Amino acid sequence: MKAVAEAPCKAIITGEHFVVHGAWALAAAVERRVRVEASEADEMAIESDGHRTNDSSKKRLAPVARVVTKISDELRFNPRVLIRITSRVPESSGLGSSAATMVAVASALTKLKGVELDASEISRYAMTGETAIHGRPSGIDVNVCATGGVILYKMGEEAKRVKFAGSRRFLIVQSGTKRSTRILIDRVSRMNVKYPGLFAGLANSASFISELAATRLVNGDMQELGRLLTYNHAVLSTVGASTPKLDRLVDLLLALGCYGAKLTGAGGGGSVFAIPREGSTDALIAELKLRGYESFQTNVPCEGVKSWLQ
Ligand code: PMV
Repeated sequence: MKAVAEAPCKAIITGEHFVVHGAWALAAAVERRVRVEASEADEMAIESDGHRTNDSSKKRLAPVARVVTKISDELRFNPRVLIRITSRVPESSGLGSSAATMVAVASALTKLKGVELDASEISRYAMTGETAIHGRPSGIDVNVCATGGVILYKMGEEAKRVKFAGSRRFLIVQSGTKRSTRILIDRVSRMNVKYPGLFAGLANSASFISELAATRLVNGDMQELGRLLTYNHAVLSTVGASTPKLDRLVDLLLALGCYGAKLTGAGGGGSVFAIPREGSTDALIAELKLRGYESFQTNVPCEGVKSWLQ
């Protein structure tokens, strides 16, 4: 018998980085999933896209081993399990591939052991692995991968579910440059140390943008939401999260008629999140491909982590 869990990845709509410093941020689950299978074994072993390690100190998979150990210690499980990970989420590109992995691991493992956890408990365990990778994550990624849908999130408070009728369409464009979330969090945080007053103002502004963006999203006012996104990109550029290439990509998307665009996640490369005009998405994806950019459309909201026995 094995347990299977699948977790969606995510896109931060507004408020990344500042969320690490106490601001509100808005995030959506995205329908590209990480699949994890958990089964009993002779020793703890982790396999990722076909490569196995029994040595939990191996750098890449050590955070997964941490999640398994934390859950096994707290819930008094036997940690001798085989964890098999397969992912459709591009790594190091701002779409929360590590968060989706940690959430799916926590969910598959507890399913295997017959324990039902709610989304906040799954997120708490998943955070052990996320912290090992990123240093000081806010928790927004694991929360939205676990709950699905759209959440308004602030550290230390329960995530607020943003509900609306129907669905909304967004475009995710990959810049093609990989980067490290940990390095970018440190870079942005240094500005907070150097110019605390200025940074506090920008964080307030990002927080306010996120609350406004949630309202625009609920009302389906995509044009106004787009403007808020573009404004948020400028704020993120000010604190060093963007790059000339990302700025050019945002400008290109606006020139191609999008209502708004911004970097999503830690920046420094990774992906751009855009709001296409109604009916323009297919042509936009084709145009971006001609210019060397991979992109895909995402329908929001999407379901959170799910698990089952097989
Ligand atoms: O680039 P990602 O998918 O790792 O997202 C990072 C988002 C940050 O706000 C920069 C960090 C965080 O934990 O909130």
